[in-house]
Amino acid sequence: MRRFAVLLLGGLLVGGAPAPPAALAAEPEEPSVLPDGHGRDETFYACTACHSTALIRRSGFTRQQWDELIDWMVEKQNMNPLEPEERKLIVDYLAAAFPPRHTRPPAFANPFATN
Ligand code: HEC
Repeated sequence: MRRFAVLLLGGLLVGGAPAPPAALAAEPEEPSVLPDGHGRDETFYACTACHSTALIRRSGFTRQQWDELIDWMVEKQNMNPLEPEERKLIVDYLAAAFPPRHTRPPAFANPFATN
């Protein structure tokens, strides 16, 4: 029993070390990793076909920048174009949930984020 506890603690310590990006992308995700909001589920399913939400969550853009980013994803990354209504829903969600962050004090950096 005691040995088990030691192993468990060791596992926690190792688990706390920064994980390589591959491990991050391999983590199973569900829509609740994104902030609540209208359009969250649609965004999750449209945007996690190629990469995890980590790229999205670390970003902060204006509505126009999110809109342009989707163009970029379609033109350069072979993303399937979104239907106009779905696109509006998703861009509105992204702009509300991930607005530009003008200041990023180091104190707010997530020590476990890999990028
Ligand atoms: C068809 C595949 C695909 C889909 C679908 C997709 N992306 Fe991407 N996305 C990529 C690729 C490839 C990159 C570049 C990754 C890299 O930098 O190595 C990327 C990068 C990004 C980045 C980082 C941009 C930067 O330079 O900081 C963000 C943010 C992003 N995607 C958001 C989204 C959002 C939001 C959606 C849904 C609307 C989405 N992606 C859907 C392929 C995709």
